[in-house]
Amino acid sequence: MNILILGSGGREHAFALKVASSKLTEKLFVAPGNSGTQQIATNVPIDINDFEEVKRTSLKLGISMIIVGPEDPLVNGIHDFFSKDEQTKSIAIIGPKQNAASLEGSKDFAKKFLVRHNIPTAAYATFTRENLNEGFEFLKTLTPPYVLKADGLAAGKGVLILDNFDDAKNQLTEMLVGEKFGIASSKVVIEEFLDGIELSCFVLTDGVNYKVLPTAKDYKRIGEGDTGLNTGGMGAISPVPFANEKLLKKIEQNIIVPTIQGLKKDDIDYQGFIFIGLINVNNEPKVIEYNVRMGDPETEVVLPRIQNDIVEIFQSFKNKTLDKIELNVDHRSAATVVLVSGGYPSNYNKGIKITGIDHVVDSTVYHAGAVQKKEDVYTNGGRVLAITSFGNNFQEALTNSYKSASRVNFEGMYYRKDIGFDL
Ligand code: AMP
Ligand code: GLY
Repeated sequence: MNILILGSGGREHAFALKVASSKLTEKLFVAPGNSGTQQIATNVPIDINDFEEVKRTSLKLGISMIIVGPEDPLVNGIHDFFSKDEQTKSIAIIGPKQNAASLEGSKDFAKKFLVRHNIPTAAYATFTRENLNEGFEFLKTLTPPYVLKADGLAAGKGVLILDNFDDAKNQLTEMLVGEKFGIASSKVVIEEFLDGIELSCFVLTDGVNYKVLPTAKDYKRIGEGDTGLNTGGMGAISPVPFANEKLLKKIEQNIIVPTIQGLKKDDIDYQGFIFIGLINVNNEPKVIEYNVRMGDPETEVVLPRIQNDIVEIFQSFKNKTLDKIELNVDHRSAATVVLVSGGYPSNYNKGIKITGIDHVVDSTVYHAGAVQKKEDVYTNGGRVLAITSFGNNFQEALTNSYKSASRVNFEGMYYRKDIGFDL
């Protein structure tokens, strides 16, 4: 079949490599794609949030399956759009419908879901500009640090963690009244701060059955020792070494099963990935967020460990037979290190020539913010490449990725040398 992947990051390059290796794939397209996907698929330069354009392209290219990488088309309802249209309803969309995508698109919706289904999470309350003063009162009941979350999508920037009460009060006002994050902060979730170590778990569901995918941990801050501004992610490892069998069992029983059952109870038909962000507080995992897609760069360590034909897995969604598939996971560890443009996540230049990718032999170089022009690859975003390697443990995998990273160069290139430092 012909398959279209939507997105242009390292995640989508990782999906493209997997899909390209499937015996079920005839032609593979990526929209808009990057220099990495261009080498193994056909890039289509379209706006993936313009669903009419995605529809026209899909019909023209004879697409039977669309794999949605990022959250915004899902939150904007691409799945509903395709399934309501006579001409496109037979195209399988890998990713949930709009109501389910609210688990990521609205923090308030997600919190209500968590509480309704008794899934462990931080205590919270939601405020709007109309009850700002109640927000101040609620802040007084908490012990610092204060966690403020814009309700809607804010490109990963909508969570503020503040040590001081006055800052929290000011920022709450900025968000609700000053529209700090535009419409996304017209509602703000204030949460109890959870003190613990983070990990992510990934679940694939056909709506009835589910498979737990390998765990991963990403490193979001730009600076070593988890300092400085938040980024999309500077590196990741899989599996997470402290996620032992006991903890995984707890996560499955207390979080994954009630999530899948909760979706059913709420009559939400979900097909696709559920990315659950967790904080482990004294061995009690609690949910800090749901995402309705895979993570980036987590995908670059989770997918390489899955040895199954991914298209076969996706095909099982149609008749809800995911339970018939046995997941084969590589027991080795995978680590990825993200090479970013100098200045990221603030201002940075684009269009800088990248050299040395060909000299990498023992790792996979996933392209992210990179474009190909004639024979050469140039930077085209903040996160430029993600270099993934395997090892018998995460330290060995990281050593391999760092060795490979040292072979690549572009002016201003930066990467964290301390991924996994806290483990
Ligand atoms: P989110 O976008 O919800 O994942 O939040 C971004 C980051 O903020 C998370 O990766 C955590 O590091 C942190 N965070 C979110 N919620 C909490 C919380 N309740 N307690 C402590 N840290 C949090
Ligand atoms: N790496 C975090 C995310 O994809 O949301």
